[in-house]
Formats: sequence, C-alpha cells, structure tokens
Amino acid sequence: MITLQNIDVTFEQNQKQIHAVKQVSLQINRGDIYGIIGYSGAGKSTLVRTINLLQRPTNEGKVIVSDTDLTSLNAKQLREARKKIGMIFQHFNLMNSISVFSNVAFPLKKSGLSEQEIIKKVNKLLKLVGLEDKADAYPRQLSGGQKQRVAIARALANDPHVLLCDEATSALDPKTTYSILELLKQVNQKLGITIVIITHEMQVVKEVCNRVAVMEKGEVIEEGSILNIFTHPERQLTKDFIDTATHINKGIETILHHEKLLNLKQGDVLAKISFVGSSTGDPLITKLSTHYNVAANILFGNVEIIQETPIGTLLVVLSGQHEDIAGALSYIEQNQATLEILEDLRGGQI
Ligand SMILES: Nc1ncnc2c1ncn2[C@@H]1O[C@H](COP(=O)(O)OP(=O)(O)OP(=O)(O)O)[C@@H](O)[C@H]1O
Ligand SMILES: [Mg+2]
Repeated sequence: MITLQNIDVTFEQNQKQIHAVKQVSLQINRGDIYGIIGYSGAGKSTLVRTINLLQRPTNEGKVIVSDTDLTSLNAKQLREARKKIGMIFQHFNLMNSISVFSNVAFPLKKSGLSEQEIIKKVNKLLKLVGLEDKADAYPRQLSGGQKQRVAIARALANDPHVLLCDEATSALDPKTTYSILELLKQVNQKLGITIVIITHEMQVVKEVCNRVAVMEKGEVIEEGSILNIFTHPERQLTKDFIDTATHINKGIETILHHEKLLNLKQGDVLAKISFVGSSTGDPLITKLSTHYNVAANILFGNVEIIQETPIGTLLVVLSGQHEDIAGALSYIEQNQATLEILEDLRGGQI
C-alpha cells in the first residue's frame, strides 16, 4: 500500500543542517495497522509527513502509495492523491467556529456531491464514530475523545485508503485512548483502511498494531511484526519500549532483588522460561517433577497477549540432583520454550 524508498529529509536551521530522516525504506501493506515508535525528535512526524508529501524528501527518495509514485505527480494530481490519505493529529485541528457537522462536511465542499448527499454522508460518518447526537455542537463543547472522533470522521470524508495518525491519542487519558484505538481498529477492519500510527507509547502499539518500526535519530533501527518484535527484540531501545508495555521485567527485577523471595540453595538453578503461542508452562512444570524428579518452584508468572497470541513467562527455581536438573533443562529447551539461566548454584559438580 505504501512504499518508502531511501527517504532522506534535511532541514536547514540557523545555517545548521538537521538530518531529521536518514535513508528510511519501509513497506506498509494493505490492511496493516502500522506503528512508528520513537522518542521525541526521532523523526517520526517528518517521516510520516512524507507519505502525503506534506514534507518532500530532500533527496531522490520515492514515495509510492497505491501503486502511484507521488513524487512524480504535478500539483493537481497530488491534490487528488492526497484526498485518499486522511490524517489526524494530537490536538485534533478542528475548526472551532463551525459546528461538528460542518467540520466533517468541510472536505466534501468541492467533491461534486449534492447537498443531500453530503448530509447523508456526514451523518453516516458521525454515526460511525458514535457522535450522531453531536452534529450541531461546537468543538469547544466536546471532550478530547469526542474531538478526536470528529477529526476521524472528517479524515474519512473522502473515503481514504490510508489514515495517518500523528500522536492521535497522546492528549487523551488511558480510557479514552483505548476507546479511540478501538475505533481505529474498527475503521481498519470495517472499511479496510490501512492505518499508520505514530506514537511514543508501546502500549498503543501493543494494543492495535500488527507491525512496528522503531525510530532513533532519524533512522529506522528495527522493524517487524509485533509478535516478533515483542518476543525477539534486538536493539536496546526496542527492549526499553517493550518494558514500558509489559510487566515481565519489572516483576522479575522485584524478585531478583528480594533475597527472601529468591531463597536459593546450593545446587539450585534459577531460570526464566518463556513460551510463545498455545504451549503453556503448566504441563511442562508437571513433567519436570514426574519425569525428571526436579522440583520447580514458580516465583513469578505472567502472560501477555500480543496480536491474540499468548506470550508466557515463568521464573522458576529448579531443585534436584545435578543430572536430573541437566535433563530437565534440555527437556525445557526442546519444548518450544526459551530458556535463560539467571543463576546457577550447581558449582563445579555439573
Ligand atoms: N520544519 C522544520 N524545520 C527545522 N527542523 C525541523 C522541522 N521539522 C522537524 N525538525 C527537526 O527534525 C527532527 C525530527 O523532528 P520530528 O518532528 O519529525 O520528530 P518526532 O519524532 O515527530 O518528535 P515528537 O515525538 O516530539 O513529535 C527534530 O530535530 C526537529 O527539531
Ligand atoms: Mg512528532
């Protein structure tokens, strides 16, 4: 749906060059809810603004949307192409002096639709975002979440194929954020619109995206499916973001720093076992005791659901005979589980 090829953006400010986006190439597929995450100043907004050429790449980079190379279009063609790319923002950008209805109707002014058709369409859009009863209200009479719903309705007026969301939930409380994300999911699924979400919150990515790109200092440093990124992050920044959206490492840290909870004895092995998908820790832990005579004391357990796939983590202390523990460990590794040994008190007797 969207292909960005070798995008570079450089700004000139006070005779200094700011390299905001550096050689970014991305592929966003039709139907994706694609997340772009990074800290402030990473270049997220600049990159996403190249998708509708609000920001032109300052090199020969190419922007291809729905099989059209936007960089090759003339001004009129570009105006038409942009109609099919909706955009919403952190601060909603509504026109405060006109009603909700008029805000949503605004992009339809030169659409060639009759007044009746416009009324019908706006009402349909307001219904979709759950604001049919607010048509005559003014933006100042709405909550932040309601304003963003109006902005979404307006962005959908020209039946876009793509919706770009720049920090669309950053000004909202967690509950309202969740309801807007649910609406975006619905827009994606019901209308088949490809969505690009810029955020600095991994929780947002975890909630709705199927793919994500991590940006740092103008570069995309890691990219992939949500499941893969959450289970096998490579870069430290990605790991830091994941920690903000899961409870795994925090829980484990608490236990590791609490000696009474830990209570390790000579011969024990402290291990972190992670599972992805339908395999759960339950039969595995039972087997350790029945087949290997190894006691597995669970100190911590957690399940995160990412893209409808459970990701389980267990922190266990394994106690038993040395050779039994060795057998148990290799059994764990052979069972679609990832094993990480955090502490090994078997001494030289392994
Ligand atoms: N029009 C501009 N002129 C000069 N510099 C700019 C311009 N727009 C952005 N920049 C600079 O480019 C870099 C990337 O900015 P950008 O707004 O894309 O980051 P961001 O990841 O969206 O950050 P935030 O999370 O704060 O929105 C920053 O150093 C910023 O100061
Ligand atoms: Mg930004």
